[in-house]
Amino acid sequence: MAYLQIAIDGPAGSGKSTVAKEISKRLGITYLDTGAMYRAVTLEALNHKVDLHNPEALKKIVNQMDLNMTVSKLYVNNIDVTDAIRTPEVTRNVSVVSMDAYVRSEMVKMQQKIALGQAVIMDGRDIGTVVLPNATYKFFLVADPTERAKRRLLELKAKGFEATLEALVEEIILRDELDSNREISPLKKAEDAIEVDTTSYTIEEVVVLILDYVKGVR
Ligand code: C5P
Repeated sequence: MAYLQIAIDGPAGSGKSTVAKEISKRLGITYLDTGAMYRAVTLEALNHKVDLHNPEALKKIVNQMDLNMTVSKLYVNNIDVTDAIRTPEVTRNVSVVSMDAYVRSEMVKMQQKIALGQAVIMDGRDIGTVVLPNATYKFFLVADPTERAKRRLLELKAKGFEATLEALVEEIILRDELDSNREISPLKKAEDAIEVDTTSYTIEEVVVLILDYVKGVR
């Protein structure tokens, strides 16, 4: 039996996670935040103070990690790291860790296994191109970098972190560059993905637009 698969890709701050989470609730299907998985590996690597450019060290980190995800929590070796993976330090380093071939192949395997027996909506960078190339629907969300940085600033402030808009614009542009130009599974719109520019849309408008495609209204 073929299950419904919705792939949502796009750069940081394009609204993927918020939109995907909401759609998963409305459709009653499983949501998988694949970025959270790469963040968890990065957190572990930082905690163990390993060289993030060393493939052997990263391999060890991945192999000793037991990753568990529920609807709202993420656990590594039974420790709740839901908030710890969202710190600016993890965000600054995650693109380097996610370039690693072994890290990617292990994460993709886990993601594909999750999609095997249930309907899913996944968000990330390579869902439509690599993880779920035969997804029922593929969307590629984009937005102006300043707008994305503004969204991120609000998120960070709500969590009590200090940041400036200028620094966040720079960080977002750098992360886009690293994610888009890496050798393995770069951030790229799948040929058959529908591109949505969310710059001037509210979350609700993007959710409704995607749901219209899924319901065949559009
Ligand atoms: O989605 P989020 O911004 O939390 O992702 C964090 C990072 O994880 C991205 O900047 C990217 O380097 C990496 N990532 C990836 N492939 C995915 C999801 C995220 O390489 N499918």
